[in-house]
Amino acid sequence: MTAASGAPLSVPFLDLGGVNNGLREEFDLAWKTVLDHGHFVGGPEVERFEGEFAASCEAKACIGVANGTDALELILAGLGIGRGDEVIVPTNTFIATAEAVCATGARPRFVDVCPDTLLIDPAAAQAAINSSTAAIIAVHLYGQMVDPEPISAIAAAHGLALIEDAAQAHGARHRGTSAGSVGIAAGFSFYPGKNLGALGDGGAVVTSDLGLANRIRSMANHGRSVTDRYLHDVAGRNSRLDTLQAALLSAKLPRLDAGNARRAAAMAAYREMLPQGCTPVSVQPGAAPVYHLAVIQVDDRSEVGTTLTAAGIGWGVHYPIPCHQQPALAGLHEPVAHEFPVAHEFPVAERAAGRILSLPMSPTLTVEQVARVCDVLGGAL
Ligand SMILES: Cc1ncc(COP(=O)(O)O)c(C=O)c1O
Repeated sequence: MTAASGAPLSVPFLDLGGVNNGLREEFDLAWKTVLDHGHFVGGPEVERFEGEFAASCEAKACIGVANGTDALELILAGLGIGRGDEVIVPTNTFIATAEAVCATGARPRFVDVCPDTLLIDPAAAQAAINSSTAAIIAVHLYGQMVDPEPISAIAAAHGLALIEDAAQAHGARHRGTSAGSVGIAAGFSFYPGKNLGALGDGGAVVTSDLGLANRIRSMANHGRSVTDRYLHDVAGRNSRLDTLQAALLSAKLPRLDAGNARRAAAMAAYREMLPQGCTPVSVQPGAAPVYHLAVIQVDDRSEVGTTLTAAGIGWGVHYPIPCHQQPALAGLHEPVAHEFPVAHEFPVAERAAGRILSLPMSPTLTVEQVARVCDVLGGAL
């Protein structure tokens, strides 16, 4: 399969240019409007985007913040979680989920994931609960929501806060619920490569608990009182979504669903054309993922990766080192006491970490490009 030039078709891992180029006119207008009014922080575009994004998540409130890690940390802090508390976190996630817990002074309690979806295993979460547990973070990884029912039931039965890490799941749904509407609050990232990405860093907290929303809004803005800007009720910080990013995100939000549908179509094409030996992550009954990533499992990742790179095909690994094995988090994770020595504490995540590979995925990915990737994979296996 060749490009128009006759050279073999190369396929980028993520086509950010393709995603953003179609919006140049809207971006130019957004930039001009913000430059004209000059409210670069806290301008009217922030409130507008917050309203639009909350509605799209079926939540009552949204607070724009500086990034997705801050969103999670502010949710935890807003709930009063900190030193002495434990927060249950799946070990297969981006390190930011655990970093947010550590930043509050609380301790991440890692748990294993389900072998088919690689999402948090509700039974493992249940087994990890102890008297210090304050919350569970359900990470909607790769664009697929954690099944809300079992995890909500466990959290409710033990009086724990359920927090969603929806950084990879803008627009994802599960049996009529949308990412951001399941837990007490959800953290989103607008890092440029996300399904809804800014042209820089950005993030949001989404919640229907208006008291929590007010606390987080204040904490993210130097702990300012809502009624008096010179009164600081709590020791807060600066974590705000800037006006320009909010304006750009408002321009992109109306295209989110269409982009997600194109990702789903590309994933369907992968499922049809993937050669034997490439097993995509499963979709649970009732789930409507948004395919932030197209993750497969293979036996010999290093061989497959070398072949893809040689053919000009972008790929990645999300994530090759589970959180409990990251040096930065060493010492935070207390091994569970076992009667006999066991080689693997989180066998599912540890096995998957050596086998997962993320294939090219973008809303602009064509069937021809998917076919090229699958051809090359067929040659590698
Ligand atoms: C699962 C997950 N959680 C949290 C984050 C943190 O978001 P940010 O990079 O905006 O801080 C990311 C972003 O990469 C993520 O993928």
